[in-house]
Amino acid sequence: MKDMPLSFLGGLTAPQFLADYWQKKPLLVRQAFPGFSGLLSRNEMMALTGRDDVESRFVSQAGGWTIEHGPFAAAKLRKAAKPWTVLVQGLNLLLPEADRFMRQFDFVPYARLDDLMVSYANDGGGVGPHFDSYDVFLIQGIGRRRWRIGNQKDQTLLDGLPIRILKDFRPVHDWVVESGDLLYLPPEWAHDGIALDECMTYSVGFRAAPAQDLAEQFLVFLQDRQSLAGRYRDPHLKLQKHPARIGRDMIDQVADILAGIRWNRGMVRDFLGCHLTEPKPHVFFDPPRRPLASDRFAAALADRGVQLDLRSQLLFADDRFYINGEATPVPLEDLAAFRALADQRQLDSVQLSASGVERLYDWYRCGFLTLT
Ligand code: SIN
Ligand code: CO
Repeated sequence: MKDMPLSFLGGLTAPQFLADYWQKKPLLVRQAFPGFSGLLSRNEMMALTGRDDVESRFVSQAGGWTIEHGPFAAAKLRKAAKPWTVLVQGLNLLLPEADRFMRQFDFVPYARLDDLMVSYANDGGGVGPHFDSYDVFLIQGIGRRRWRIGNQKDQTLLDGLPIRILKDFRPVHDWVVESGDLLYLPPEWAHDGIALDECMTYSVGFRAAPAQDLAEQFLVFLQDRQSLAGRYRDPHLKLQKHPARIGRDMIDQVADILAGIRWNRGMVRDFLGCHLTEPKPHVFFDPPRRPLASDRFAAALADRGVQLDLRSQLLFADDRFYINGEATPVPLEDLAAFRALADQRQLDSVQLSASGVERLYDWYRCGFLTLT
């Protein structure tokens, strides 16, 4: 199944796309999603920008570039001088159909997936020529957008602006996209999308962490997982000429102690699992108000199955599972079922071991999943 031609990739198979385009070159597919007019209406999107549990941004070009972060009162957007763009992150966390749409791109591992963003721009709106460090699939909803793209080396940005705008944008392609068209852009490709009408664009974005961020986050993870024995000692201390000097012996001894800091591949795996499934700052779960007792839950699970909450992130590596920032044990006999739950984000009626059911019951009580 995984190597069937995909019409939304212009008939390429996922392996062909990965080999020839992914992180290498752009791909424009006309009518990738024929008849696609979007996942929500303009008014539904504007309503999302008013919520404080939704990440939104407003970018305006009227009178110079400005950016503001939501939530926004409806009147603010109504009155704003045009052209402007408003962007909402994490649509997949809010709408089941957005999550389903995004999961069509599951030929790229979930560990790389960030979210589905939607933007609305009025005629002439855009966020200016820039580059991102993300791989992105841009899918046009309502309206038309003119995309100009290029792979210039010069990434110099204009000084003194609140958003990242390239100083010298040199596009090599110029395309007008319409509803249902798809444009894949690898990281670092410069792009500028200008709305030609009232326009909504959906972006499926893939994260790629900077090495420095990985190092910093890993060091935080590691600090709770070290147990170094002993203590600094100096029974042979000699009189120093300068009492203020940090002695050479002290530096050497501490260097030896710190050389005892250890990590291994298993820790790197657990770090990635916890780090990649960590909920974003504005994400909170809603535990069931009146949860079923565990025996009723077990009966309902066997009968109907469960689905992950839209906000839940469940990944696995080897036989370890990670959900919403925590490593969690899973009984060996239930591995296949839990892997299916992680891949498909739902599990039909299923027979699990008692501890497997208990694990799902914990997640149910935390609001990480619901009965179907
Ligand atoms: C958009 O406005 O939808 C596109 C944002 C971008 O160019 O990254
Ligand atoms: Co961009």
